[in-house]
Amino acid sequence: MASSRTPAKFYSPLAIGAPEPYRALPVRLERMIHFVPPHNDKIRAKIKDIAGQVDVVLGNLEDAIPADQKQAARAGFIAMARDNDFGSTGLWTRINCLNSPWMLDDVTEIVAAVGDKLDVIMLPKVEGPWDIHYLDQLLAQLEARHGVKKPILIHAILETAEGVNNVEAIAAASPRMHGMSLGPADLAASRGMKTTRVGGGHPDYGVLADAGSDAGAARAFYQQDLWHYTVGKMVDACLAYGLKPFYGPFGDFSDGAACEAQFRNAFLQGCLGAWSLHPTQIDIAKRVFSPDEKEVAFAKRILEAMPDGTGAVMIDGKMQDDATWKQAKVIVDLARLVAAKDPEKAAAYGL
Ligand code: GLV
Ligand code: MG
Repeated sequence: MASSRTPAKFYSPLAIGAPEPYRALPVRLERMIHFVPPHNDKIRAKIKDIAGQVDVVLGNLEDAIPADQKQAARAGFIAMARDNDFGSTGLWTRINCLNSPWMLDDVTEIVAAVGDKLDVIMLPKVEGPWDIHYLDQLLAQLEARHGVKKPILIHAILETAEGVNNVEAIAAASPRMHGMSLGPADLAASRGMKTTRVGGGHPDYGVLADAGSDAGAARAFYQQDLWHYTVGKMVDACLAYGLKPFYGPFGDFSDGAACEAQFRNAFLQGCLGAWSLHPTQIDIAKRVFSPDEKEVAFAKRILEAMPDGTGAVMIDGKMQDDATWKQAKVIVDLARLVAAKDPEKAAAYGL
């Protein structure tokens, strides 16, 4: 028996009157998903400024918001969504998780009040496709009831062992899927990892160089990326289904260099952005998730040398063929997206 909807039904609205699901994701620059606590009046007063500096503003309702502030955060998010024009900046919210006492009201109240302004709902602690199916149906019902004109997308946080096990089925669950973020803090807890951090590496996770003939000589220790396996798994699941993968949070605000290194590993592995939890992380994400100027220049040379994308040429002693042409196109397409938003980058890229 088939365990998923037929191809034709997959793209039909799940409620009469709900908007047609997207067949391809809207093209948007999302280098950083900037988290704000919407119950904080001072932050809410600065949203217009913040929105001008970032690619996505996310009103956080879940972890880090105290239980007695959950309703204030929800009301604050609705107010900030109503009171501001976000232009090309994305507006997202992270709702509370499915088994919490707040999730249902988060979704129903927010879609009723500002459903047309909301681009993406980030759903935490997703365990399997059933979680996506539930929110998918609920959103369709609410979109229909409130006359929402475009589908509200779902972004899953990959932060439980069960979720990682089911990552491919989660990616395949709905045309409403936007992408996924790695949630290293909850995932570490769920897996029983022996760490106390929000993302990043650990000094004890690494490999020791072989002992040489001199038994007394110091042996080099190379720290490794704790998140390499999960990011790789998430990137494959996302790209196989045309979704966007993201690195999540980096909790040590005092160590910008380590944050940058972690973000860069994720970028090189295929991620398109990361969360910024502190203003200093906005520039780090901008730097990391905008392609490097030298890489863009080289990628442009590859595209120019192979106008139809076939054959083989040598550039600076390096072999280029259809596969490097496709890599070059990924970089130049991203550079164009960045250039459209950022005149300085446009000049630097020569685009
Ligand atoms: C994010 O939500 C995390 O748990 O890392
Ligand atoms: Mg979490």
